[in-house]
Amino acid sequence: MLVTNKTGDARIGHCRICNAQIAPFMSFGRMPIANGFLKPDEIESEYFFELAPAFCDACGMFQLIEQPQPEKMFHQQYAFYSSTSRYMQRHFEAFAHAVINGPLAGRADPFVVELGSNDGIMLQHFQRCGLRHLGVEPSANVADMARNRGISTVTTFFNSKLAADISAEHGSADAILAANVMCHIPDLPGVAAGVQRLLKSDGIFVFEDPYLGDMIAKTSYDQIYDEHVFIFSATSVRRAFAPFGLELVDVAPQVTHGGSMRYTLAPKGSRKASESVDQQLTKEAVLGLDRAETYLKFKTNCESSRIGLTQTLERLRGQGKRIVGYGATSKSTTVINYCKITPEQIEFISDTTPIKQGRLSPGAHIPVRPYGEFLERYPDYALLFAWNHAAEIREKETGFVAAGGRWIVYVPEIAIVS
Ligand code: TYD
Repeated sequence: MLVTNKTGDARIGHCRICNAQIAPFMSFGRMPIANGFLKPDEIESEYFFELAPAFCDACGMFQLIEQPQPEKMFHQQYAFYSSTSRYMQRHFEAFAHAVINGPLAGRADPFVVELGSNDGIMLQHFQRCGLRHLGVEPSANVADMARNRGISTVTTFFNSKLAADISAEHGSADAILAANVMCHIPDLPGVAAGVQRLLKSDGIFVFEDPYLGDMIAKTSYDQIYDEHVFIFSATSVRRAFAPFGLELVDVAPQVTHGGSMRYTLAPKGSRKASESVDQQLTKEAVLGLDRAETYLKFKTNCESSRIGLTQTLERLRGQGKRIVGYGATSKSTTVINYCKITPEQIEFISDTTPIKQGRLSPGAHIPVRPYGEFLERYPDYALLFAWNHAAEIREKETGFVAAGGRWIVYVPEIAIVS
């Protein structure tokens, strides 16, 4: 059953993949758009929805029961620019070269399509090698940035019709790539049909997304926000793409986004599956990713994490300490609103992304300030919202720690570290 709430957004009672009946196992409460950094005059019209995940017993897909309409999340003012992290730049360079030197090696005039190509962080490497490429990116501001760098990009959502149009204009694709995108798309079967249509019979489809196993193991519930309508596992990906003739032939864990998985799929029978697939499926069964009770335990862990973080912030505030948030991440929106963190607890959130600076955080309305303000006057504590970049950040912020500053972290557990 698909019902719509007052604003017309879809709230489902059946799995988006296999149509079995599903129900949320917990709720994070009313949530704003994770990347919806706003100006003070936009507070009145701020949009909220219920952030509640469900696990499908039948096919193993972890999903939100309600997701705002895509236009509310991906638009002209989309606040997420992939190229802000040096580490991510290196990651995508390595991803691109693994494809160029791996499956594309020796192919005559290969054609590569990237779904959700953002500002061209990955496609630029194909462009530099003179390879035919096309980015599909619905958010106009980041797509413009890619085009300005000479990267072929169309500003639209990917579906089966677009797959046919691309195929007619450029021919079938040797490789279709996506990073942190597939988990955004509620009509995953529609995209799978498009991939099936666009891919050559010996082509490959490679995508990576935050990994369910890491989220459960680390209680990193902040991966759950509006854009992430799915959190994938090898088990759920394998089942979701099988009806479209696409077989899971490789999996490779990644450290990005606090723990991701790269999935390689190919038309059924076209490639031998690597041993990593069976190994990962076995690991997931051992972890209990296919069992409802795992998610009830996860719910308890989320509640404990919330209590721990709230108590830590209150204790430090009681001691008159200055606390600043570090990194106005999408993920922080879930933490801030679920834990009901206020501007009285967190003075501001430091962020290097110009479009977020001078705005207010979604829901709690904590000011987002340029990174320079963090450097100018170090706080006593910095709450590490960009924990997925911890290595890069802690390497950069030795001055903060030398000045007596301490980090508050909440993944995998609440801790104060120097
Ligand atoms: P990101 O890691 O992409 O997380 P999410 O997917 O949850 O949005 O976002 C990182 C954010 O943190 C981005 O707004 C830039 C900011 N940031 C800093 O302010 N300083 C830094 O050193 C780094 C690495 C990121």
